Amino acid sequence: MKTHVWVVDNIVDKRRIYPQIQEAAEWLRAGEVIAFPTETVYGLGADASSTAAVEKIFAAKGRPSDNPLIVHVASMAHVEAVAASIPPVAKTLMERFWPGPLTFVLPKRAGAVSERVTAGLPTVAVRMPDHRLALALIEASGLALAAPSANRSGRPSPTTAAHVLADLNGRIAGVIDGGPTGIGVESTVLDCSGEVPTILRPGGVTKEMLCEVIGYVAEAVGTGNEQEAPKAPGMKYTHYAPKAPLWIAAGPPAFLQKLVDERRAEGKKVGVLTTEENRHLYAADVVLACGTRRELATVAQCLYDTLRQFDETNVDLIYSEAFPEDGIGVAIMNRLHKAAGGRVISE
Ligand code: TXA
Ligand code: MG
Repeated sequence: MKTHVWVVDNIVDKRRIYPQIQEAAEWLRAGEVIAFPTETVYGLGADASSTAAVEKIFAAKGRPSDNPLIVHVASMAHVEAVAASIPPVAKTLMERFWPGPLTFVLPKRAGAVSERVTAGLPTVAVRMPDHRLALALIEASGLALAAPSANRSGRPSPTTAAHVLADLNGRIAGVIDGGPTGIGVESTVLDCSGEVPTILRPGGVTKEMLCEVIGYVAEAVGTGNEQEAPKAPGMKYTHYAPKAPLWIAAGPPAFLQKLVDERRAEGKKVGVLTTEENRHLYAADVVLACGTRRELATVAQCLYDTLRQFDETNVDLIYSEAFPEDGIGVAIMNRLHKAAGGRVISE
């Protein structure tokens, strides 16, 4: 299969975007899978009501079939079509954070989406992305789109169309290239199907932001190395992994440098994942800076790209700095723990 690329990131004239989005929407209606940008990461979309179309997502990604997909919508009517009910607390949060990086797990409406989307669970995950191309595509197709991140299973999520093509070229019908995504880590998944709203996956909307609106939320998962949440099937798989093994070095730069020196003395090629302000502190084979600690959102933005950049190098292993676990730092550390397969070295 040849993967078609619609480049629309540099088009400011809406009338020139329209025909390209229309074409991609037609392909979706015909049962194809198309990758598209959202404000978090690129998604791999298909008609959520079509089992045949959704199966193409699992095949292209090599994704385990017990891991359910998020349904992307552009209107409240879409949500009502796929969810059996919307609890008041979810409605309040939708009004505040949608469109945006917040996914709601809701009781599902029987028969509205393919069983393959929900992996047989009684719930459905729904999100309205804050990206004009994503919303335009959903609207033009008239479909609710099942869309996981558009990477091969186990690889870092894609934040550019080039990342999507690196993983899926020839395996999907097309990709809409809308330029780099903004937030860089996936949406927060909030389970609103039970008594207490519970964060199943930390993401772009932080716990602090949720608490400000509804007062209290529970957390089913922390930073990845403790108890797995049985309700977030996706969290149990090794995710986001670069090709070289990654270790989180929990300590000051001098501690991390000492680890680098030890490995290099053994003849290993060592990579360091750091930030702009600290990069000059390290002597290693490859030193990559990922954003700045002054603004942790910049670290989230380029985390996956930096992990992928290490794959272009010949390092044998990577040491990463750790980040403060508040605000978006919770999502950053969650993804780093996943990428490291839980490997942390403390001073
Ligand atoms: O930002 C995002 O959320 C991106 C963009 C493309 O929207 N999508 C994304 O999808 O990250 P994916 O499939 O990579 O992650 C979906 C997560 C998984 O951890 C999955 O287990 C969980 O949501 N999930 C989906 N449906 C669920 C359900 N009914 N109950 C509990 N967890 C669910
Ligand atoms: Mg994913």
